[in-house]
Amino acid sequence: MAKVAREQWSSKLGFILAAAGSAVGLGNIWKFPYVAGENGGAAFILLYLLCIAIIAMPVLVAEILIGRTTQRNPVGAFKQLSGKPFWVAVGGMGILAGFMILSFYAVVSGWSLGYIVEAIAGKFYDFNEIGSSGAHFTNLTQSVVWNVGYFAAFMALTMLIVYYGVQNGIERGSKIMMPLLFILLIILMIRGLTLDGAERGIDFLFNPDWSVITGKTVLVALGQAFFTLSLGMGAMLTYGSYMSKKDNIPISALDIIILDTLVALISGVVIFTAVFATGENPNVGPGLIFHTLPIVFTKMPGGIFFAVLFFILLSIAALTSAISLLEVVVAYFVDDKNWSRHKAVIVFGFFTFLLGIPSALSFNVLADFKIFGLTFFGLMDYISSNILLPLGGLFISIFVGWVWGFNKAVPNLKQGAEKLFDNYPWMLTLWKIFIRYFAPVLIFLVLLNALGLI
Ligand code: PFF
Repeated sequence: MAKVAREQWSSKLGFILAAAGSAVGLGNIWKFPYVAGENGGAAFILLYLLCIAIIAMPVLVAEILIGRTTQRNPVGAFKQLSGKPFWVAVGGMGILAGFMILSFYAVVSGWSLGYIVEAIAGKFYDFNEIGSSGAHFTNLTQSVVWNVGYFAAFMALTMLIVYYGVQNGIERGSKIMMPLLFILLIILMIRGLTLDGAERGIDFLFNPDWSVITGKTVLVALGQAFFTLSLGMGAMLTYGSYMSKKDNIPISALDIIILDTLVALISGVVIFTAVFATGENPNVGPGLIFHTLPIVFTKMPGGIFFAVLFFILLSIAALTSAISLLEVVVAYFVDDKNWSRHKAVIVFGFFTFLLGIPSALSFNVLADFKIFGLTFFGLMDYISSNILLPLGGLFISIFVGWVWGFNKAVPNLKQGAEKLFDNYPWMLTLWKIFIRYFAPVLIFLVLLNALGLI
């Protein structure tokens, strides 16, 4: 089949910003604080950082490399490099994970959209009493119309951007908004640190109590490392497929990781200084930032302005991640099934919306409907983040380390990074060892342990 000319990022920075746009999102600002809160704070955070450094970093390089080498979507890429049905199915599993993640991700993104309106309407002025902000959140999410309505609005926005394609939609949006979000988080961090009682939040974040760690905590830390970096399901592979051979893959991966980790840690400081200064509970689950941040805004001069700006930027950060989720599915149908981009966006946007409805209802009519002790929303999150993404990472590292072969992978990795590997040849050796042994063995052990098998 003749290859259709494919779009590419317009510049080197284009890839980094778009990939960082995919990585930085609700995973950093919404999910990281609440899972850290549920899993005991500092000890969990150290485990998470360890997972990033020794597992996620080499896998991220591998994933981008497969994408850039093949210039295909996850399924097409494995087809091209191996052709074996098993590996094609691994690509397919990534597409399925993307579809599942987007379905609940867009529900939370909808909350963020809804909070822009709450902030503009001045609803954040009544939150001086402990618990009032949390009660406000619970009230909102108990409304089916509010939950499903904003979820639908967010899906429509995501579809609109993916519809317009890589450069016009995805790249342009990320360039302006990402730096702005970063600056605002730093302002909020300063406000958080100067709140009375902030030091208890810092203690919770950075003073580990190892007794709280179990096999399941390690799996959640690993799942969070994959989720936050958009790793293990082909999003980075797909973005890498629009990258030029002149770009430096290891340095780009490092940039993405540094940015993503900084945003998560800063968000942790913002949220936990506020949680402890206001006497909130760190363990309330997915509503955590919606419980605490409005209180911080009420305690700031110009609070309404900052609140509106914050939820606009959070929604945009969510959007730059959501488009990468939808893009994976769309790229597959465009590349391999010859669908038009427009048709793929409309069909899969609609199916994602359908799958997301039970997640949106998990906070109201389906709140008591539990599978394995989890709501539908919790189950989607658990299966995709904690099972499918690490499993995807396991297969990607086995594929690059053992199946594709370093004699083919390494020359491709060196393109654009010649100087780096000439000056520091040990980096290549280290990557080979990690991708071949450390990453697959560790992921395998963590999965077995969490399943109770070891
Ligand atoms: N990395 C995104 C975040 O932290 O919000 C979430 C995500 C996006 C996960 C894209 C997976 C993905 F493919």
